Amino acid sequence: MTSSDRSPWTRRNIGLLIIAFIVGAGIMGGIAALLLSIQERKVEAQQYPLKVVEISKNELDPAVWGRNFPREYDSFLKTSTDTITTTYGGSVPYSKLERDPALVRLYAGYPFSVDYNEERGHYYALIDQKKTKRQEVVKQPGACANCHAAEAPQLIAEMGWENFNHTPYKELQDRLHTGTSCADCHDPETMNLRITRPAFINAMTARGIDLNQATRQEMRTYVCAQCHVEYYFQGDNKVLTFPWSQGLTIDDIDAYYEKIGFKDWTHQENGAPMIKIQHPEFEMWSTGIHARSGVSCADCHMPYIRDGAIKVSDHWVRSPLTNINQACQTCHRESEQELKDRVISIQDRTAELLRRTEAALLDASDAIMAAQKAGASDADLATARQDYRRGSMRWDFVSSENSMGFHSPQEAARVLATAIDLARQAQLEAQRVMPH
Ligand code: HEC
Ligand code: HEC
Ligand code: HEC
Ligand code: HEC
Ligand code: HEC
Repeated sequence: MTSSDRSPWTRRNIGLLIIAFIVGAGIMGGIAALLLSIQERKVEAQQYPLKVVEISKNELDPAVWGRNFPREYDSFLKTSTDTITTTYGGSVPYSKLERDPALVRLYAGYPFSVDYNEERGHYYALIDQKKTKRQEVVKQPGACANCHAAEAPQLIAEMGWENFNHTPYKELQDRLHTGTSCADCHDPETMNLRITRPAFINAMTARGIDLNQATRQEMRTYVCAQCHVEYYFQGDNKVLTFPWSQGLTIDDIDAYYEKIGFKDWTHQENGAPMIKIQHPEFEMWSTGIHARSGVSCADCHMPYIRDGAIKVSDHWVRSPLTNINQACQTCHRESEQELKDRVISIQDRTAELLRRTEAALLDASDAIMAAQKAGASDADLATARQDYRRGSMRWDFVSSENSMGFHSPQEAARVLATAIDLARQAQLEAQRVMPH
């Protein structure tokens, strides 16, 4: 063994050391670069990644917001896709009246019997509302614009709440251009979620809920509940109101309408004082297992999507059956197929119960019409008509809810069972008062 072999400073060892140093420096550099890049991405994932433009307080144009948040904007634009088909939902705006002709009779005498389509993405919110034939049948109030135009909050501030609601829609129409905007849900300064629609604030206040105390997770549902809820127009000023002061179930809503003696229309066939229920997604969700487990609308309809190392919320709000992987498998371990099958089996059962309820309601309407024709008086028919109203309201609560039972399967089944019972009671009662 030579001395040079023992010395650490042999040429070979020096060579190795240099290599080690270079590799080490490389690793350090790499780590530094990685840290820097993580830092950058963190910054990027924060509120203002690249504050390209200042967003003014009243900015409604999503394209302007999109300059600061291109990823969210890109996915937001995809809500114009209207070619998604799922078994019961999707974004193809097929006619619900053609698919289920029973609806024409069930809504007889009301604009929904003339034009009623499967809804599509947020991009169409104003487009579809402007062109529906329901506008022609009955003169609609400005109140419709509350949920169909991003201009609503600014017009309300300018015109006053009551004035905005009762101004005829046709007079307001020229001032509405933007169906949906980032401003509906975000504060332009902080990008925090915010509530912009007075009807929701009023309804929650009436229930004793202070929205300023809402948690972030609650806000991920509340922003949607500004629009995806049952509503009616109160009084001559047509003030948009959510019927929740007694609670959110259909039984609470029934009790509320009963207390104030409200009806939307008189049924053309059978003379019952009717309530039209519309898109009660928030109410239905509230009674389900996901709400009880703290799962928000955004968890399933706006899941995180990755772009490299950056996670953003998918603003292509749509049927989660198109992206089960992001929408469900963050929490559920079952396969995509298994999850899909579970949804479809819930929906098939709900659809079957809906068809049975419709048959029962039509039988009841036939029986009331027969009694009317035979000369039964309004007083004779009051109970049958009241049962019909209550059965129809419950049927509509499930029918007009857009998840075909998925948001709360057991509640949907319970409500439909009650609806069938009420419809058959209406039928029996009409037969009982039939003049002989
Ligand atoms: C656990 C997941 C989940 C949660 C939470 C959830 N949804 Fe859904 N939602 C679904 C599924 C699944 C469907 C059925 C989609 C289909 O049939 O194509 C659906 C359907 C819908 C539809 C109809 C979509 C279509 O394609 O026709 C709307 C609107 C909707 N949900 C709104 C909401 C709102 C508002 C909330 C919160 C109050 C909410 N959802 C909470 C999973 C969820
Ligand atoms: C409280 C909010 C709200 C108000 C007020 C409101 N809408 Fe809507 N509208 C929605 C939501 C949410 C959808 C999507 C879910 C659905 O179609 O069930 C929708 C869907 C629609 C559609 C597309 C689907 C269809 O039914 O053919 C039309 C058209 C429409 N609304 C017209 C109107 C008219 C007319 C008025 C006034 C009488 C009105 N809306 C008032 C929230 C609202
Ligand atoms: C300002 C009112 C408004 C708000 C806020 C709102 N929506 Fe909507 N949403 C609508 C309207 C209106 C439509 C129907 C548009 C049409 O058919 O023309 C719709 C349609 C939808 C659809 C159907 C999409 C499709 O492809 O068929 C889903 C799902 C949905 N909304 C979920 C949500 C969720 C989840 C939130 C909250 C994150 C939310 N919406 C917030 C008004 C609103
Ligand atoms: C219907 C309501 C709604 C609309 C409209 C909307 N967002 Fe969002 N946005 C959300 C929700 C819900 C989240 C999740 C927030 C949270 O978890 O705190 C979110 C999150 C964000 C975030 C935070 C980062 C992320 O992706 O999670 C940014 C930035 C953002 N949105 C930008 C936009 C822009 C830009 C637009 C318009 C092009 C827009 N949003 C329209 C509901 C909405
Ligand atoms: C943020 C988490 C989360 C997301 C996202 C989520 N779920 Fe769930 N889901 C839960 C929890 C928690 C439960 C309750 C489980 C329990 O208590 O056993 C549940 C329950 C269920 C159940 C069983 C209901 C019952 O009564 O047995 C089904 C089916 C289901 N989820 C389907 C879905 C589908 C489909 C999606 C996507 C569209 C989805 N979930 C998205 C958390 C989630």
